[in-house]
Amino acid sequence: MSSTKKLYIETYGCQMNFSDSEVVASILTKEGYQLTEDIKAADLIFVNTCSIRDNAEKRVINRIQEFKHLKSLKPSLQVGILGCMAERLKENLLQDQKFVDLVVGPDAYRDIPRMLNESMGSRQMANTILSEEETYADIAPVRLDSNGISAFISIMRGCDNYCAYCVVPFTRGHERSRHPRSILNEAKDLVSKGYREVTLLGQNVNSYHWEEGDLKVNFASLMKMVADLSPLLRVRFSTSHPKDISDELIEMIAVTPNICNSFHLPVQSGSSSTLKRMKRNYTREMYLERITKIKSLIPDCGLSTDIIVGYCGETDEEHGETVSLMQEVGYDFAFMFKYSERPDTLAAKKYADDVPEEVKGKRLDEIIKLQQQNSHQSNLKDVGKTFTVLVDSVSKRSKTQMSGRTDQNKVMVFDSLEARLGQYVQVKCTHCTAATLLGEIVNYLE
Ligand code: SAH
Ligand code: SF4
Ligand code: F3S
Repeated sequence: MSSTKKLYIETYGCQMNFSDSEVVASILTKEGYQLTEDIKAADLIFVNTCSIRDNAEKRVINRIQEFKHLKSLKPSLQVGILGCMAERLKENLLQDQKFVDLVVGPDAYRDIPRMLNESMGSRQMANTILSEEETYADIAPVRLDSNGISAFISIMRGCDNYCAYCVVPFTRGHERSRHPRSILNEAKDLVSKGYREVTLLGQNVNSYHWEEGDLKVNFASLMKMVADLSPLLRVRFSTSHPKDISDELIEMIAVTPNICNSFHLPVQSGSSSTLKRMKRNYTREMYLERITKIKSLIPDCGLSTDIIVGYCGETDEEHGETVSLMQEVGYDFAFMFKYSERPDTLAAKKYADDVPEEVKGKRLDEIIKLQQQNSHQSNLKDVGKTFTVLVDSVSKRSKTQMSGRTDQNKVMVFDSLEARLGQYVQVKCTHCTAATLLGEIVNYLE
């Protein structure tokens, strides 16, 4: 294969997908492909897609029509659809989009080189076989869009929770954990390259487990092993399911200085009856008990969440319970969505998507406004306090300002003075907006 072939890769969806694109980039650079950011220069275009909501899929379908045009200008161009939409729609994608060469599901990326050779630009091919074992453990990801400071490490794949609304178990298959040794090796390699922050990724990281002879590793012990690699490495994780957050995990975070004090704990709804229809396996009370535990052991803990409004059968009262839960918890940040019915899920089979679009819109607006107030409140409490910030970028607005994140995962902007990217600095928060903390450096650390 000619070494000058160029690959352009575009990614949608969650961090797992971004992490997978780095695996795909690694597989293809071994095949002699060079990565390009110029789509017009590409010999091969990959889109790594998301199916989580209908609008995520629509966006991709619109976007790929532009590749059709590029292909008419350059007939040798190959186009591949990867990821969750590939898995969900399978060969149908090839039928509907005649210009697409490859459709590859999330567990079939090792097969791409063979598929490219066999398709040769003239035959459409699909591989959407899901695996019980694939974790791409031995593939060193090629870091895309990296700032050389923070990286994601995928520690498990798939999901067995089957929340009633969610397409992920269908697109990503069964849950499986990656060998702890390969996770630690990847983290060590990042540390040796100067990285200072890793986020351990999975759809439900709390259920990470590995057993082999005497070796027994759960999520809390895995995080501790990664944190022990270097006191200068910050460890984060995403996402945890409220039903299996153990006391052990909360205690581990509380006592380990370089495991960040922040939890992303998707609640989805504040109403126990809605949660039951969602098959989340916890009640409002159980969720709030976990929050109380987190707040008591880690008083300065950052808290964020995901919320769905307008789920099947959601009444005004049930929605009101989501509002009151948000008021009670006081999240720093939230991702908020209108329910979008996904084919084949339990919700699609069992319940009518019966909350009118207009009501979904109103409920969403209401909680977005509330969250803005909560974020502002939470930021106001930080004014006057000093935080350790890992400097990760030069401010987009002004070159004399830099920004980074606090342990609690809030963005802090400050005058750059002498700070370097990748350095820890102590910043005193002097004022804030609803979205950002602003402050001044009081001390330079390592
Ligand atoms: N594994 C993670 C979530 C992955 S999907 C977890 O369980 O927390 C990210 C978020 O998308 C979910 O938390 C949920 O809030 C939202 N989401 C998932 N399916 C959805 C649907 N059908 N409609 C609207 N939002 C959805
Ligand atoms: Fe989807 Fe639930 Fe799995 Fe999260 S835990 S990916 S919401 S099925
Ligand atoms: Fe989307 Fe698949 Fe992630 S559906 S949210 S890209 S697991």
